[in-house]
Amino acid sequence: MSKHILICVTALCFFVSCSQMEKNSYDIIPYPNTLSPGEGHFVLNDGCKIVFPAVSDSLTRLVARQFVDQFQKTSGILLIEEIAEEQGARDNSITFIINENRPVEGYMLDIAKNKIRIEASGAPGFFYAIQTIKQLLPAAVYGNVIVPTDWNLPCVKIEDAPRFKYRGMHMDVARHFFDINEVKRYIDILAVYKLNTLHWHLTDDQGWRIEIESYPRLTEYGSIRKKTMIKKEWETYDHTPYGGFFTKEEVRDVVAYAAERFITVIPEIDLPGHMLAAMACYPELGCTGGPYEVSGQWGVRDDVLCAGKESTFTFVENVLTEVMELFPSEYIHIGGDESPKIRWEKCPRCQAKIKELGLRSDDKHTAEHYLQSYVTARVEKFLNDHGRRIIGWDEILEGQLAPNATVMSWRGVEGGIEAARLGHDVIMTPTSYMYFDYYQSLDTENEPFGIGGYVPIEKVYSFDPIPASLQENEKKHIIGVQANLWSEYILTNEHLEYMLLPRLAALSEVQWTQIDNKEWSRFLNSLDHQTKIYDVMGYNYAKHIYEVSASYGVNPEKQAVEVVLQTQGNAPVYLTTDGTEPTEKSTLYQSPVAITHSCTLKAIVKREGVETRTFTKSFLFNKATGKELILNTNPKDKYTYAGASVLVDGIRGDFNYANGCWLGYLDEPLDVTLTFRDPEEISTVKMGTLIQLGEWIFPPVKIEVYGSEDGSSFLEVYKEEIPLAKPTDTDGLKEYDCSFEKKSVKKLRIVMHTTSKIPDWHGAKGNKGFLFVDEIMAE
Ligand code: ACM
Ligand code: ZN
Repeated sequence: MSKHILICVTALCFFVSCSQMEKNSYDIIPYPNTLSPGEGHFVLNDGCKIVFPAVSDSLTRLVARQFVDQFQKTSGILLIEEIAEEQGARDNSITFIINENRPVEGYMLDIAKNKIRIEASGAPGFFYAIQTIKQLLPAAVYGNVIVPTDWNLPCVKIEDAPRFKYRGMHMDVARHFFDINEVKRYIDILAVYKLNTLHWHLTDDQGWRIEIESYPRLTEYGSIRKKTMIKKEWETYDHTPYGGFFTKEEVRDVVAYAAERFITVIPEIDLPGHMLAAMACYPELGCTGGPYEVSGQWGVRDDVLCAGKESTFTFVENVLTEVMELFPSEYIHIGGDESPKIRWEKCPRCQAKIKELGLRSDDKHTAEHYLQSYVTARVEKFLNDHGRRIIGWDEILEGQLAPNATVMSWRGVEGGIEAARLGHDVIMTPTSYMYFDYYQSLDTENEPFGIGGYVPIEKVYSFDPIPASLQENEKKHIIGVQANLWSEYILTNEHLEYMLLPRLAALSEVQWTQIDNKEWSRFLNSLDHQTKIYDVMGYNYAKHIYEVSASYGVNPEKQAVEVVLQTQGNAPVYLTTDGTEPTEKSTLYQSPVAITHSCTLKAIVKREGVETRTFTKSFLFNKATGKELILNTNPKDKYTYAGASVLVDGIRGDFNYANGCWLGYLDEPLDVTLTFRDPEEISTVKMGTLIQLGEWIFPPVKIEVYGSEDGSSFLEVYKEEIPLAKPTDTDGLKEYDCSFEKKSVKKLRIVMHTTSKIPDWHGAKGNKGFLFVDEIMAE
């Protein structure tokens, strides 16, 4: 198929409309179902009461008390708590009214000049109404000190209830450890956004982080790894022991703290894979008997729990029994992801179990996949018998899905679709929208080192968890959405918060806000107030929305690279192309900038009170830059970005292959046609490639270049066969220089063949290898 993604700039039209919008004084995120603005204000002052019915339960009273305490701490004003025998709104009061007809988490909030009325069926609704009130107050209400300000609430009537009942955020304390205070900070900010679930990833190959009394070695030994790999240098280690775990008392403290914020903590004990930390303590849990080490490397380990031994199940059940004692959650997450079958294939016990159970490979799955299904179903039965339900990652669909399992769809939404069709509940958490460990910016050189990927806030915001392809009765099985924040490359709490915020705000609208009320420009403008909240609460957060960002296209008519610059709101952007630092006297950006020669574009945005870094991008021109290029084959969807223009935009890539500067080919060769407006004398074609063998990114195995004088018939001008990569080859950027006798051509066709079978010396032997190309150059 031919793809013609040249020219002009797609993407990020999101940003365009926001600039003209007026400042909204109802900066509530997640946005409620209905909001009718009123006239005037309610003034919170001395003498103002908070009134709740005598029949209120203790949690409802707690909601009132929490607000009274927090408000006093920041305003110095003590709201008087009063119990009312009769329901009904009072003057100069915030009155809680119990209305059984409201949905469990829903509420009505009516702020009039003389009184505030909140209706809810119970404590969760009152809690969410209070969260809305806090967002309507000055951001100082989130702080710890008294701030002299007008404590006014704008009059408004709000009816609200969440779109999804499961609104989760995941936290990985296994790869890097975050202590109890950091976990509580995490919970605090989830509460601001009305999330109701913390998915706590407590165990993994790199560390066991929860005290289990019947297996003390899990924390004594399994919580510590001897060394950790440095960045993505797979064989380079820091040789520094790293550890940490939560005592049972601390776990109870976290669970209770979350419950007071209407957040359920769901523990994840990941099995049968990602268990190396436990196996290092109790090597009999593995097929080979070890010895095993708590892993200092990220990724997927071949050693998993042995499914052929009864003692493995005894261990799992004993651990889960203690876990259930600590966590009252209906759900227990039992992982199930990334569990290689290579040990099970060789293990006599696992094979005997397969035989005993009569498991057989079929055209979809191997007997070992069915063995994992057996493990999952058996653990599910154990938990069901104790009144709990399981959640598993979407790998639990491989083989036979456990009868009552809820599926967390992470490798896309397809697993979720399949599970919903099978009548199972689903939580959507696809990598491409919901992985907060992925970069938020394409300018990765200026980001803290990360795992890769690209999930900017607008991508998070754009997600709709309900696939259109589902029937109505299947859609109801999509019970919610979650974002995941894996911590392999996140060493500090500051970095963790940077990855979380403000993407969490976008997530909350995906989870809570009705789809018709989602509006990027309104959301974006409300973020100003949200970042004030982060400042007051002392959270670190990413500021990309305030920076200048760019998208690139090619305009062959002008033989130019066109650059569209954007920023939040209507802040002015100033630019230079001569390498000097822009100032307010530089060119004001008004329309796409046409770049026609090698240069460095710099741009700044001027905004009161917000400092952001200068945007800088260098362009290197050659005879192909800014020309028409057609893709005759397809890169992988995930590594297509702006498409054809990427190869002729004069922008060179770096080591991050997922930053939009590279096209990644896997299933087809790179095959492109470059057209010159006027015939050009060409004697060299160069291709920029990246080699990262550990990431399955290989050199091309064959290059062909064809030239056409008339634009229709092509002659081969260059051909090179390249030997398969060897284990001693080094990673890096590599240019292929294809020189030939000078020719006047109208078109060039370039073909670069990919590695169809990764050689035997490589861990991914037999698979296809990627080819990454950032630029096609001609001289
Ligand atoms: C996962 O990201 N391995 C669930
Ligand atoms: Zn085994």
